[in-house]
Amino acid sequence: MTFEQLIPAPARAEGPHSEGFILDSSTALRAGPGTESTERWLRATLGGALGLPLAPGEGAGISLAIDDSLAPEAYRLSATQSGIEIAGGAAPGVFWGAQTLRQLVGPEAFRRAPLRAAGRYAVPGCLVEDSPRFGWRGMMLDVARHFMPKDGVLRYLDLLAAHKLNVFHFHLSDDQGWRVEIKRYPKLTEESSWRPRTKWGHRASELWNDTPHGGFYTQDDIREIVAYAHERHIAVVPEIDIPGHSQAAIHAYPELGNTDVVDTASLGVWDSWGINPNVLAPTENTLRFYEGVFEELLELFPSTFVHVGGDECPKDQWKASPAAQARIKELGVGDEDGLQSWFIRHFDSWLTARGRRLIGWDEILEGGLAEGATVSSWRGYGGGIAAAKAGHDVVMCPEQQVYLDHRQDGGPDEPVPIGFVRTLEDVYRFEPVPPQLTEEEARHVLGTQANVWTEVMEHHARVDYQVFPRLAAFAEVAWSTLPAPAERDFADFERRMTPHYARLDALGVDYRPPGGPLPWQKRPGVLGRPIDGAPPNV
Ligand code: ACM
Repeated sequence: MTFEQLIPAPARAEGPHSEGFILDSSTALRAGPGTESTERWLRATLGGALGLPLAPGEGAGISLAIDDSLAPEAYRLSATQSGIEIAGGAAPGVFWGAQTLRQLVGPEAFRRAPLRAAGRYAVPGCLVEDSPRFGWRGMMLDVARHFMPKDGVLRYLDLLAAHKLNVFHFHLSDDQGWRVEIKRYPKLTEESSWRPRTKWGHRASELWNDTPHGGFYTQDDIREIVAYAHERHIAVVPEIDIPGHSQAAIHAYPELGNTDVVDTASLGVWDSWGINPNVLAPTENTLRFYEGVFEELLELFPSTFVHVGGDECPKDQWKASPAAQARIKELGVGDEDGLQSWFIRHFDSWLTARGRRLIGWDEILEGGLAEGATVSSWRGYGGGIAAAKAGHDVVMCPEQQVYLDHRQDGGPDEPVPIGFVRTLEDVYRFEPVPPQLTEEEARHVLGTQANVWTEVMEHHARVDYQVFPRLAAFAEVAWSTLPAPAERDFADFERRMTPHYARLDALGVDYRPPGGPLPWQKRPGVLGRPIDGAPPNV
């Protein structure tokens, strides 16, 4: 394994210039102040994979240090015959350097136990100097449409770390399920974390899966997930979606819905897909309820950013509801877009007063963007461009490029194919910063994330299939400073994917093989939406 096979590609690398260093049972691990998280990770993960103690000591080995002349996420890794030195600008940089070391050792370093006793592992003599292009390198996982049990989430955090991704956007509520325990509102999980059946395929499919589906994370599960992420220098950004995508919450607490136009007490947890008309009522009671939800979330999630959704909120019920219309007049917000904006502004000030920052999908621009809001630009670049030009921060995640639920090949064998065809190469050529932004405006692009909506991913193997290998290309886009899309060397990336597939195999990832799905990865007869260019909402 050589440095030329790293993914994401480092900013600068020299070598191999010597035989390098041999890791064996005598290899010491020395950790300077501030590098303890990487010390623990190396001993547990690399040591566990290779069967090496990586004990503290003075002998030849791996040294970790902070070098504050480097940026916090930057690192320098030097491997010579006398040892390996990893210096990072701060703890995260040291950790990303350790991820590079793991790749340099080879695919065996991605296993959980050694293949042989008393192994010796060569690290090529090299110097790697590296730092990320973007500070926000994320993946959003929808655990509402299909629940992912906690061990699967922890596994995804490891997969993000292995790709130097540092934000996990956790989509915890939707029409089809509520996934986080809120102590003051127990019915959210008692009644709304389960649904009796689930549409099997695209919403136009005739098929149902009649096995009840559901699950939720207890507050202790969430604490464990957040701590596990923190140890890996990943921020967990929770999302509770308001005022749309709220039928599960309305099922548990019918007074949250527009009771004057719909019999909210009869609404179940939704069992199909698409944009749902049952949205929150614009009342003081609704605001107090969600302040209660967010109060508990702030205790659980230390991240600066808190996502409030804001997407796909149909305004039909508010148009029909005398109570909502009276509210529009009373608040002086003009129309239904103004009501949506009123919801978001309320939580923008509420979060700001608590030292946090609101982020929402680009529909939060409609009716006027709240003062401190950051925008997840998903319906293309447009929302992100408008927000950045108005001085707001932006995370670029356009559905046309980085929605990993969309099919990755145009062939008939893709399982439940939906949305656009977006291949590994398409993702590799994704550019997060659009040319319409000036250099100054482009500084508002905090970074980028890939989004994983799980309507047609019924379990973790299906999630793996959609996410990999494309997340590897996405990680290189987010971390590495690449040429303009048309000039990117995809052939070189593909060459580096050969060892990367070996790493994914060692990790047990059910990726899509380059030749197409394996028999058990197909879903013959389950309807997708096989019209390229169709709107992707499923
Ligand atoms: C979204 O895809 N509805 C944000």
